[in-house]
Amino acid sequence: MDKIIIEGGYPLKGEVSISGAKNSILPLLFSSLLTDKPCFFDRIPHLRDVATTYKILKSFGVAIDEGEHQSHVQALSIKNPFAHYDLVRTMRASVLALGPLLARCGYAKIALPGGCAIGARPINLHLSALQKLGADIRLEEGYVIATAKKLRGAPIYFETPTVTGTENLMMAAVLADGHTVLDNAAREPEIVDLAKCLKKMGATISGEGTSRIEIEGKPSLSGVHYTVMGDRIEAGTYLVAAAATGGDVTLLGCDPEHVTAILSKLEEMGADIAVSNEFQKIRIQGRDLRNIKLSTEPYPGFPTDMQAQMMVLATRARGTSIIVENIFENRFMHVCELQRMGAKIEIQGHSAVIEGGVSLKGAPVMATDLRASVCLVIGGLMASGTTEINRVYHLDRGYEEIEKKLKGLGAHIERIRD
Ligand code: EPU
Repeated sequence: MDKIIIEGGYPLKGEVSISGAKNSILPLLFSSLLTDKPCFFDRIPHLRDVATTYKILKSFGVAIDEGEHQSHVQALSIKNPFAHYDLVRTMRASVLALGPLLARCGYAKIALPGGCAIGARPINLHLSALQKLGADIRLEEGYVIATAKKLRGAPIYFETPTVTGTENLMMAAVLADGHTVLDNAAREPEIVDLAKCLKKMGATISGEGTSRIEIEGKPSLSGVHYTVMGDRIEAGTYLVAAAATGGDVTLLGCDPEHVTAILSKLEEMGADIAVSNEFQKIRIQGRDLRNIKLSTEPYPGFPTDMQAQMMVLATRARGTSIIVENIFENRFMHVCELQRMGAKIEIQGHSAVIEGGVSLKGAPVMATDLRASVCLVIGGLMASGTTEINRVYHLDRGYEEIEKKLKGLGAHIERIRD
């Protein structure tokens, strides 16, 4: 397995381009199942989760012509609406095939994703909402088997806003008969990106970006040419890495409005930030940082996908910080690894209490999930000495060319290939 070696202590400086958003391209690729016409996507990041999505789509019989950062996808016919456990277990977002397959074929068999390193992550809300659209759902031998002669629009209320649940239901409802209302829907920018793409395919959707989305079903959709939005979590990660190393970094290609909650926390900590909405540019200069209190919330609140990165940053701030994780029950796996680097963090239920003013020391550490891994990379950049990060395949699921981008900013980072 590959390792990453970091020699810490060098402030990041320069410009970095943000890639297309992982959590946007995945639903977009699955939306191509909704039409037999060709779909063309560009600004696709080179990520393991994208490669897994291609594998799943190909296993359904979808034709894919993959370019550097583009792909042509055409689901002329779907021969095999069945997602095997071997593929689903490597990427939970495979569950996004359920809504579109059911809408297009009237049948889908998808392995239940099961729990993962950050929590139980059930899909009960996806399933009960699809039942409201008229789907018959059975769970057999670890698989969800969903059938529906024809989905019918219906009012749906999500007990909790769920990102992929909202996306699944949007993709099911665009081909259902009649009107669907999704209440307490997720409001993440990735939902808006999906709605924009579906509208370009001819769907009638309103209210995306609010907690009430309305959809009028259509008998069929057309093909599309769509450019993926910039990755707000990748952007947030580089902002934190810059602040953590006392650097001066300009990000290109991320809508500053998508990272408002992150920018406001970094400013509260004392980082100097300048934004150009027009040019999608954000400049951050690291300063002497103060402690923070933050709680993760659904968008537009502070994203859980940035919690680990903020935690490592808090180790160098003045004073004691408190971070509360409200979305996932087990998203503190990075804490033990940060403690190995000298961090002083105490977990109290859903909260972490982080003592600031600590100088991290390089150490061998183990990545446990995507965002935990990148928090260790930031730790390595801040630490004195050498940090060796093992199991970096987690990083490759969600960060395009991370070593190359960080090297471009002056980091001393190498990948040792196995
Ligand atoms: N939930 C349920 N039942 C459901 C669905 C969700 O109880 O049927 C709960 C979850 O357990 C969690 C909360 O609802 O407590 C929110 O989960 P959500 O469904 O919104 O998460 P997700 O759709 O599985 C997406 C992202 C995650 C990100 C979360 C939260 C994708 C592909 N994944 O997951 O991204 O953390 O939303 O914003 O969009 C990552 O990129 O590292 C990542 C984990």
